[in-house]
Amino acid sequence: MKRLTIAIDGPAGAGKSTVARRVAEEMGLLYVDTGAMYRAITWKALQSGIDLSDEQGVAGIARETEIELNPPEVRVDGIRVTEAIRSPEVTQHVSKVAKMAEVRRVLVEKQRRLARDGGVVMDGRDIGTHVLPDADVKVFLTASLEERVRRRHLEMIRRGFSSDPDRLYQEIKQRDEMDENRSHSPLRPAADAVIMDTTGRSIDEVVSMILDLCRTKV
Ligand code: C5P
Repeated sequence: MKRLTIAIDGPAGAGKSTVARRVAEEMGLLYVDTGAMYRAITWKALQSGIDLSDEQGVAGIARETEIELNPPEVRVDGIRVTEAIRSPEVTQHVSKVAKMAEVRRVLVEKQRRLARDGGVVMDGRDIGTHVLPDADVKVFLTASLEERVRRRHLEMIRRGFSSDPDRLYQEIKQRDEMDENRSHSPLRPAADAVIMDTTGRSIDEVVSMILDLCRTKV
């Protein structure tokens, strides 16, 4: 059977990681969370105390950092950062780091290496448009801003962080705007992506819609 390459993109809180991980499990494929990579570099940059407007400095960190993804575990240079990369501080700064061309170049190279032999579900913002333009299946997941805020709020509470829905609303809105308007591979659906609005749909429903789509490709 063909080892599919599946790209899942969309804005913050659309449910990409939950859905992508489930699809990967169901199909026995590797799951790659590219957002975790941008978060990992942001975490390390914040730890090192570097000024985040120092693009050369942050790019240097991206080049020298070893990121291990072993879902749901994430390690940076051997240090477990699974929860730390989801902190409000990292979330607040990640889109600034993700705008940097050299950071993207380094991470995209790693992402393409991971997908080289197929058999992968990769989620992010630019997977269908830029990282894996020849993916067999491309899905763009969206949901209303209100629903995405609600989901992210519940997720933050579940992860043990405090959460204020009004602040989350502003944070998500601002992060989407930065991701959509940056000059290097902005967030947008690929021309050949299937757009799925997940507002009011359960995870099971969305997973099964994607699995149906995958069955048409094998
Ligand atoms: O998916 P997640 O919310 O963890 O992504 C965090 C941030 O990483 C996004 O808001 C975006 O700025 C950046 N990102 C990106 N390209 C990707 C994945 C994530 O720019 N492929």
